Amino acid sequence: MEKVLKDLVALTGLAKRDFQILQEAAPQTKLWVEDFVQIFYDTLYGYESTSHVFKEGEREAREKTLRDWYLEVAGGDLKRQNFWQHQWFVGLVHIPRKVTNTFMFSMMSKVQQHFLQKCMNTFEPTQAVAVYTSFKRVTDVIAGLIAEGYFSNYILAMEQVAGLRPALIERMMSIEVGKMIAEARSKMLQPT
Ligand code: HEM
Repeated sequence: MEKVLKDLVALTGLAKRDFQILQEAAPQTKLWVEDFVQIFYDTLYGYESTSHVFKEGEREAREKTLRDWYLEVAGGDLKRQNFWQHQWFVGLVHIPRKVTNTFMFSMMSKVQQHFLQKCMNTFEPTQAVAVYTSFKRVTDVIAGLIAEGYFSNYILAMEQVAGLRPALIERMMSIEVGKMIAEARSKMLQPT
């Protein structure tokens, strides 16, 4: 997890300044929380593929999770020591609920688009861009952690079920993926 976080932070350029910018804007951005919760779950409950993910009577609990998450991120004050670890863990709990990364990335995009709209309507242009860019950097790092947490834990669980050593799996995968690439290339090069 640490290595993934380090890479995400380095490549997105997430810095202390982003948290300061978010903290300064927090009195305003925290007021938007209920809009975010509503848009998020109206979208997921209103779309067939994602509505199946939820159990009967679960909406209130799910809304609370997203409310807490939004307030923590938009507040720019990651009080919880294990904040980043927790995002990795979200990827893990999404696995048994079949919350694929397709769903997760789509919703992160929706949250970011909506946040941009709110910033444009509220702040003067320079501040709107600054607040949005900081929010985007943090939420992109989070999406990266959730996605990698999902993928790495999925593979880890498979290795444990199959009782195979990671090094062996990696060698076997590399041979198999090589074959798949060759096959895909040969198909793509065939005239239609
Ligand atoms: C922006 C993307 C998302 C974020 C940031 C996010 C965040 C979270 C968080 C913080 C939790 C609580 C983890 C804990 O127990 O501590 C959670 C759980 C959950 N999320 Fe997501 N989520 C996202 C996308 C989605 C989507 C798209 C769905 C449904 C299609 C979904 C369905 C669920 C469900 C069902 C749980 C409960 C898992 C369980 O405890 O059984 N999430 N999510």
